[in-house]
Amino acid sequence: MPKTTPIPPKPSFFLTTPIYYVNSVPHLGTAYTTIAADALARYRRLLGDNVFFLTGLDEHGQKVEQAAVEHGIEPQEWCDNLAEKFLGAWELLGITNDDFIRTTEPRHVRAVQTLAKTLYDQGDIYKGLYDGWYCVPDETYWTEEQLEGGKCPQCGRDVELVREENYFFRLSAYQDRLLGYFEENPDFIGPPSRRNEVLSFVRGGLRDLSISRANVKWGIPLPWDASHTVYVWFDALINYVTAVGYGDPDDAGEFARCWPAHIHFVGKDIIRFHCVIWPALLMAAGLDLPQRVFAHGFLLAKGEKMSKSKGNAVAPADLVRQFGADAYRYYFLRDVSFGQDGSISIESMVQRYNGDLANDWGNLCSRLFNMVGKYFDGAVPDPGGDAVDAADGVLAAVARDLPGRYDEAMARLDYGAALESAWDLVKATNRYIEDSAPWNLAKSPETTPRLKTVIYNALEAVRIAALFIAPVMPQTSAEVWRRLGLGDINAVTTLAEESRWGGTRPGSHVEKGDPLFPRIEKDAV
Ligand code: MSP
Repeated sequence: MPKTTPIPPKPSFFLTTPIYYVNSVPHLGTAYTTIAADALARYRRLLGDNVFFLTGLDEHGQKVEQAAVEHGIEPQEWCDNLAEKFLGAWELLGITNDDFIRTTEPRHVRAVQTLAKTLYDQGDIYKGLYDGWYCVPDETYWTEEQLEGGKCPQCGRDVELVREENYFFRLSAYQDRLLGYFEENPDFIGPPSRRNEVLSFVRGGLRDLSISRANVKWGIPLPWDASHTVYVWFDALINYVTAVGYGDPDDAGEFARCWPAHIHFVGKDIIRFHCVIWPALLMAAGLDLPQRVFAHGFLLAKGEKMSKSKGNAVAPADLVRQFGADAYRYYFLRDVSFGQDGSISIESMVQRYNGDLANDWGNLCSRLFNMVGKYFDGAVPDPGGDAVDAADGVLAAVARDLPGRYDEAMARLDYGAALESAWDLVKATNRYIEDSAPWNLAKSPETTPRLKTVIYNALEAVRIAALFIAPVMPQTSAEVWRRLGLGDINAVTTLAEESRWGGTRPGSHVEKGDPLFPRIEKDAV
C-alpha cells in the first residue's frame, strides 16, 4: 500500500526507485523499476530486514510545467492530480513503499536549499554563463558537439538553445575522486556494462554542471538568489536524502542513522545522473555514497522503447485487468532479463501465464489440495512411518537448495534466475506427484502410509515454494498459505527457519479453493 510511514529505527535495508516525472500517467516502463524494487523489498522483509523502501515523484522543471500549461491548469494542481494516478497504480500493483516523496513538499524544498547553500558557501557553486543546448523531455544539457544531427543524442527530439547566467556546480573538480571511488568500490555500479560506460564517460573529462535556471519558474528558488530556480535534476537527486531527514532542523540524528541507501534502482538512461552527478554532490556535501546503483534496461514494444512520446505506452491497469497483479509482476521480472533491454508482448505474456502459472504452479496447488480433500477429508496427513522412497530425498534436496540459489540470484538482482530456482521446486513437485501416482496409492489400504508421505511431502514443497514466490507474487502466495492453514505469509520475518523442511503441520485443514490462475485463451486478450 503506498503510504507514508515513520522511518523505521534504523533501516537495515534502504532501497529507492527513481522519482517519476509527472508529465504523464505511469506506464509499463515506469512501473518496471517499481515492481523490481518492490520484489527486493519484500524479499528483504522476509529475511527479517528492517526495510525502508522509497519511491515518489519528480514534480518540478520545464517538462512538468509544460504539461500543466498544455492542460490549462496550475502546475501544483496538475501534480496533485497525477500523484493520485501514481498512487493508484502502485496500489494496484501491490507496491509496499514506506514513503512516497514529492519534490514540491516543504521537507524537500528545505533539503534542496540546505544542500545548495552548503555547496555555495564552501565555493563548490559559482556563477557563470551557460551557452549550450537543453532537451526538455530529458531535462538534460547538451553541448553542440554532443548533439546528433542537431537533435538530443539520447531521445532524438528537438533541443532548445539556452544562453543565460546560471550557477554552476564544480563537477570537474570531482573527476579524480570519482574514479578513485569506482576503483575502490567495484560493485558500486551494476551491471558491469553500465560501470564501463560510466568509467569511460568520467575518464573523458567532466564539465561543471549548470544547477540553476533563470527562466524556469516551476522550481525551487536558490536560497541566496531567488531569481534562479534549481535545475530539476539537482533538485530530484536530493530526494533520496530528504526522505531520511536531511535538512530537517528537528532531526535528532535520524539522518545519520539512516543514510546511506543500500541501493538505488534506476533505468539505464539515468545512470550518469546517479553515478556521476549524485556521488559528486554527496562528496561535496561530505555525505556517504549509496552502496550500489543498479541500472536496468528498457522494455521494448515491437522493438521500440515504450514511452509516452512514442505513443506506445500501455497503462499497468490494462494488463492487470486481464492477468491480475501477480501475473503482471511475474511476467516482467521473469521474461525480461533485469539489466538488459527486453521485448514484451501480449503473446509472450499469455504464454508465460498459461505455462508457468496456470499449468505449473496453479495446477500443482489445485490437484494437490483436491487430493487432500479427497483422500484425507481436507486434513494434512501425518507422514510418520517408514513408507519412504528415494524420490522423497530428491524432492527435499531441491527444496533445501532453493534458499541459497534464490539468495545468490537476488544478490545479483537476477530475478529470472531467482524465479527459476523456485520453479525448479514447483516442477520437481509436479514430477514427484506424477512418479508417485497418489491416485494408485489410494486404491489399497496397504499403500495408505505411502500415500500419506507423498501428500505430506508435496504439501511441504508447495509451502516452501510459496515462500520464495511471494516477493514477486505476494497475493497468490498469501492465498496458498491461507489455504494450507499456515497463517499470514506477510508476517514471516525468519525465512531461513520457515524454509526448513517439515513446517507443514499434520492435521491442519487444507482448503481447495478456486483455480489460482484460470487459463487465458489467446484470443480473449
Ligand atoms: N524524474 C527522473 C528521475 C529522477 S530520479 C532522482 C526520470 N523520470 S522518468 O519518469 O522519466 O523515468 C523514470 C524511470 O523509468 C527511469 O529509470 C527510466 O529508465 C524508466 N523507464 C521509462 N521508460 C522505460 C521503459 N520503456 N522501460 C524501462 N524503464 C523505462 O527519469
